[in-house]
Amino acid sequence: MKRNHSSFLTKLALTTAVLAGTFAQLPSAASAAEASETPVWSREDVQSFDLTEENTAPNIDSFTDVAPDYWVWDTWPLRDRDGSIAKINGYYVTFALTATKDYTWSGRHDHAVIRYFYSKNGKDWTMGEVPYNKEKALGFRQWAGSAMMEKDGTIHLFYTASGRKDEGPTFEQRLAKTTFEMDAKGNSGFTVSNNGEHEILAEADGTYYETQEQKTGNIIYSFRDPWFFQDPKTGEEYIIFEGNSGGDDKTLEPQHLGDVDEVVPEGAEDYNGNIGIAKATDDDLSEFELMAPLLEANGVNQQLERPHIVTKGNDYYLFTISHQFTFAPGIDGPDGLYGFNADSLFGDYQPMNDTGLVVANPENDPFQAYSWAVLPHGQVISFVNEFHDGEGNFQQGGSFAPTLRINLKGDTSEIKNVMREGEIHG
Ligand code: FRU
Repeated sequence: MKRNHSSFLTKLALTTAVLAGTFAQLPSAASAAEASETPVWSREDVQSFDLTEENTAPNIDSFTDVAPDYWVWDTWPLRDRDGSIAKINGYYVTFALTATKDYTWSGRHDHAVIRYFYSKNGKDWTMGEVPYNKEKALGFRQWAGSAMMEKDGTIHLFYTASGRKDEGPTFEQRLAKTTFEMDAKGNSGFTVSNNGEHEILAEADGTYYETQEQKTGNIIYSFRDPWFFQDPKTGEEYIIFEGNSGGDDKTLEPQHLGDVDEVVPEGAEDYNGNIGIAKATDDDLSEFELMAPLLEANGVNQQLERPHIVTKGNDYYLFTISHQFTFAPGIDGPDGLYGFNADSLFGDYQPMNDTGLVVANPENDPFQAYSWAVLPHGQVISFVNEFHDGEGNFQQGGSFAPTLRINLKGDTSEIKNVMREGEIHG
């Protein structure tokens, strides 16, 4: 994010010979200017991460399984149009990726379906059904998304159509949506009705957003995880999503590196995650226009997953989750929640806390939780991933993790509190 290009260019001049493998050519002034319009998370930003009291979650030693027969991971509560947490007949409703335990822990991604959960107090959750007809849903399986309820009760479920119905678990990803209504039946759960069509909202265009064909490297490309967002300043509506930078030229540009004293390892250019945005152009949220990404991490990280925005006063916070294994060669970053701060939706996002790191797992259990999502009031939900119990035995999770509460102040954050597993409030 640092825009101090001149010292970098001096260094580049000195090391051009060594870097020749990585940089086919120096970027022209025009392409650098063009590219610098998109804020970047640079290699300079991520040179060293520190686990501190402010960013490290407490250990998870055990958990209560919210749905013992199912793996449960990425989770998102039903929201109102303005992003506040919604309720239906006094119940909170949350959606999550699920798969029965007939599938293996790692096989769950190939068979994901979205189920809903409901709770009166936002703490004790009961699992409901798949709220759509699986045969009509798009994709071989459905990956993460978001859910918004209109005033008339229509729920828009945004999701990722992952693969194609007749192809098995392949990796093409498209942003999709369906609609339905939900009603509480006294104390015995919910009914789902008025199911609408399933429709594709956006596909990778190959210019802003990499297509599957353009992908290089060993990690899957991304065009997934649509998150609905209404900009409180303008009322305009968007979906924010996980992408990769489009095009066939993967040459890293000065702003992707920043002021770093390193020889960028070969292959770093294959890691080109970005945070995408598409603008709604009709009232029923069926038509979206792809826009230039909000942030790019070329040469830094392949996956900026489940991106979402929280506003507080004049501050816009763009959050995303990422993995240790998706950082580019030469960068040692933890599985974590990362955040970027700006003063408008299309602002010049700067990494929070200097590096971007907002929440990490404790050092002795670096994969204990994942898929953090920041909700109003600084509530941060996630799921229990892989951890070591009180006796030091390895355990697979697949259930709601304790909610954290963080404090956001300018471009800094601090973990303040730990709440119950899956706990949310309005
Ligand atoms: C994050 C994630 C999402 C995706 C889902 C697939 O945990 O990788 O980006 O939608 O998991 O299971």
